Amino acid sequence: METKKVAVIGAGLMGSGIAQACAQAGYEVVNIDTFASAIEKAKENITKLFERKVAKGSMTEDKKKEILGRLNYSENFEDVKGAFLVVEAVPEKIEIKKDTFKRIDAVADPETIIVSNTSGLSISEIASVTNRPQKVMGAHFFYPAPVMKLLELVRGLVTSDETYDTVKEFAAAIGKTTVDAPEFPGFMVNRILVPMQNEAAFMVMEGSKPEDVDNAMKLGCNHPMGPIELTDFVGIDTMLATMTGLYNGFHDSKYRPCPLLETMVKSGMLGKKSGQGFYKYDEKGNKIGSSF
Ligand code: 3HC
Repeated sequence: METKKVAVIGAGLMGSGIAQACAQAGYEVVNIDTFASAIEKAKENITKLFERKVAKGSMTEDKKKEILGRLNYSENFEDVKGAFLVVEAVPEKIEIKKDTFKRIDAVADPETIIVSNTSGLSISEIASVTNRPQKVMGAHFFYPAPVMKLLELVRGLVTSDETYDTVKEFAAAIGKTTVDAPEFPGFMVNRILVPMQNEAAFMVMEGSKPEDVDNAMKLGCNHPMGPIELTDFVGIDTMLATMTGLYNGFHDSKYRPCPLLETMVKSGMLGKKSGQGFYKYDEKGNKIGSSF
């Protein structure tokens, strides 16, 4: 059987993880990013991750080589050609998403489906800049994308049934369970999860220790990670953008972003990826202390 090709645009935390998940499932993958530095970082991260898996015995050396052999990187949008599906995972800003969709639409094969990994922006608005809005929908992955089992499917106003069915089949092929989420800010998970993380940030701003807030939810509710740890893990900038999207989208003050998050982003404290967020991290990503 011919190996199908998937293109993933954006080699940040989400894009590189989505590319990995697709390559692990047997797809030929090209992960495209216009920043060479993002590609270098993605390659370095996956190499480290796979080396850890081989060392711990959860992946063989042969499997590692096989998967990495299917995972290609490029700085050129032209390389989306031949892909049956393009997954967009660029920063969560509507203008960047629209510009990226225009660029993909200009070069992708006419039958290619384009999905956005947006965590809450309007799919219909993103689709409107393309000449194929019926072939556009939302497919929202969770971090870390290779591990988390859920894929939220979000249809735009004109997404066709054929597009939806193909994306649902793709989700099953990469081992994800889908839910149909409404096309409103935050979709399903983030509308519940992110206000909790935002409230946790308010508590730190009011003087609670990050460890106490995290332990409260881990030990009191069996969450695998506390809300503060999770915010550092996903990225303070990403979480703030999602919260701002809820606030602007619903025009409801209950979604007001915590000012501490805004100050942290302005100061470059973006969480684990920048070495400091609510906690401090060493170069291997191990937690070494608290910032508050
Ligand atoms: N990327 C890829 N794989 C990873 C990974 C990463 N960042 N982190 C861990 N893994 C893999 C490991 O390689 C390991 O695989 P293996 O079993 O084949 O060796 C497996 O996951 C388990 O890893 P560990 O044993 O090291 O760690 P844990 O058992 O503690 O699990 C976790 C790690 C799955 C991340 C767990 O802590 C967890 O479930 N955390 C909560 C995650 C969560 O809530 N995500 C949602 C975020 S919100 C979101 O994504 C919304 C978006 O819009 C931003």
